[in-house]
Amino acid sequence: MTLVADELLRDSSVAEIRQARAAQGASAAATPDASAGPLLQVDGVSLEYRTAETIVRATHRVGFDVHEADRFVLLGPSGCGKSTLLKAVAGFIAPVEGKIRLSGRPIRGPGPDRIVVFQEFDQLPPWKTVLQNVAFPLTASRTLPRREALERAHHYVEKVGLAKFADSYPHQLSGGMKQRVAIARALAMQPSILLMDEPFAALDALTRRRMQEELLALWDEVRFTLLFVTHSIEEALIVGNRVAVLSPHPGRLRAEFNSHEFDLASTGGAPFQAAVRRLHERLFEHEQAGAGEATP
Ligand SMILES: Nc1ncnc2c1ncn2[C@@H]1O[C@H](COP(=O)(O)OP(=O)(O)OP(=O)(O)O)[C@@H](O)[C@H]1O
Ligand SMILES: [Mg+2]
Repeated sequence: MTLVADELLRDSSVAEIRQARAAQGASAAATPDASAGPLLQVDGVSLEYRTAETIVRATHRVGFDVHEADRFVLLGPSGCGKSTLLKAVAGFIAPVEGKIRLSGRPIRGPGPDRIVVFQEFDQLPPWKTVLQNVAFPLTASRTLPRREALERAHHYVEKVGLAKFADSYPHQLSGGMKQRVAIARALAMQPSILLMDEPFAALDALTRRRMQEELLALWDEVRFTLLFVTHSIEEALIVGNRVAVLSPHPGRLRAEFNSHEFDLASTGGAPFQAAVRRLHERLFEHEQAGAGEATP
């Protein structure tokens, strides 16, 4: 059972989590490049949406570190600020408090080193073929000239099992296939970190399972760094090697769990079910503690 440091993390202030992780040492040892420090540092980050009348605080002083080749999952209920956090890491929103650093440098805006894959199936321009869709960001960002871009696009289209559909248009593909194109397009940019916002949430259960399997197989091959958002406990445990649990709105970090021992094959087993229960408890602890209290 490697749900480590759980008890230590009950009141999950950033300092306590860091302390716990340092004492535990396991997580750092499991990452391939721990000596180089974290790839992504999210430190005391509060995020807000401001309109003329109101300020909505989406996250409150959230902190976590993502190391190279981590599959780091943000798990939390709807509205807790997961997408907002991902947008901040992508550079679309600036924190009102705290810092986000990539390779030690503050994030100041969007960049080709951070690519987002969204939940929606309509994130591909419909007038471009699969291959053109995957090659487009490479040429648009002047990362590669056209020929090399098409070569690299081919490589990643093959990796996601869509070689036969390279010349098809998005409307000729299923939802799962479109998501694979979006993943190929993101990986082709070879970003420092791949950001995925509930990328499989709109898929049926079987396809979702297959996509999780494929993502893990791709990770085994390419070893990219992943920041993955979900509100599914099972998906968090399957996809992630680490899972950060966020409280309901405004999102605060409640705890971090190691989950690297789990994959699709472990879902029926007792350790997996125990992990599901513990994450469930942590996820819903406020509601249980506050049962009977009036909520606004
Ligand atoms: N553009 C916006 N303007 C104002 N408030 C917003 C905006 N986008 C999100 N919010 C608010 O910020 C909070 C966090 O939203 P966010 O979309 O990050 O949640 P989430 O955890 O991704 O939820 P879900 O699981 O439903 O996708 C919510 O209370 C939401 O109402
Ligand atoms: Mg969201």
